[in-house]
Amino acid sequence: MTQAASTVVDDNISIRGAVKIYGSGPTQQVALNGIDVEIPRGRFVSLIGPSGCGKSTLLRLIAGLETADQGEASVFGVTSEAACAAKMIGLVPQAPALLPWLSVLQNVSLPGRVNRGADRRRKRIGGHQEKAAPDMTELLRMVGLGDAMDKLPAQLSGGMQQRAAIVRAFGVQPDVLLMDEPFSALDEFTREAIQGQLLDIWDEQNTTVVFVTHSVTEAVRLSDTVLVMSARPGRITASVDIELERPRSQAMLGTPEFHHFEDLIRGHLQSAWHEGPLTTSAA
Ligand SMILES: Nc1ncnc2c1ncn2[C@@H]1O[C@H](COP(=O)(O)OP(=O)(O)O)[C@@H](O)[C@H]1O
Ligand SMILES: [Mg+2]
Repeated sequence: MTQAASTVVDDNISIRGAVKIYGSGPTQQVALNGIDVEIPRGRFVSLIGPSGCGKSTLLRLIAGLETADQGEASVFGVTSEAACAAKMIGLVPQAPALLPWLSVLQNVSLPGRVNRGADRRRKRIGGHQEKAAPDMTELLRMVGLGDAMDKLPAQLSGGMQQRAAIVRAFGVQPDVLLMDEPFSALDEFTREAIQGQLLDIWDEQNTTVVFVTHSVTEAVRLSDTVLVMSARPGRITASVDIELERPRSQAMLGTPEFHHFEDLIRGHLQSAWHEGPLTTSAA
């Protein structure tokens, strides 16, 4: 008890003064220029901005896959590298990257089986909460892959593979889930269904999510906070708290309150465009 009073637990993802430069000389690219972000544990935060503004770079910085040229990144009080080693971080990349020789069930179960030492390490970091191991077959059923568990990745559509990659990331119950445009390859119907499933799992597991998207509607539906980025050099130009009740149903998308937040973010995106020298159209 007395110890709690004297120990300040840093329970945020913190990026302070982060600068990331690729290359050197005339070809050098300032991908990130002075990024400051604090994300408290349990939040769902989206990054939105034009192509090339540094969203993936920022995500990789949090994941410990990239180091900043200036500034620092920490996750719940430890460096990103330490957080990564303690299996606190799950990353869902744009392309699913499943192992082709393993079944869907084997693919999603693998990360939970390897590196048990990491489980012991992460218990000691920040406000980590121990949870019961998830039932992978149940998670697969939740995302509509109940009948595909014993199939090989090559036997699935792109959207099904992507859903398997999402389940795999949830399987290790990461403290932080980083998702890089995970739904961009899905058709609209599947995308909306899986957004709902993501919110259910997020709610159940108390995960902190940093989610990159191109879709304003998706950002508003999912997030507690939307960070708007602008390009060249990449920086955060606005932070919008989405004050909509949860759970957020499909029906909410048609309400004036929902449109209010969409318009607000579109406005910020447009000013981000006009501020920067970038004139080409983004994907
Ligand atoms: N490994 C790399 N080497 C050189 N330049 C890179 C590398 N990764 C990203 N960049 C550059 O950094 C900028 C930001 O890229 P990225 O983070 O991928 O943007 P986004 O995900 O927002 O589209 C872009 O100009 C891109 O060309
Ligand atoms: Mg990207």
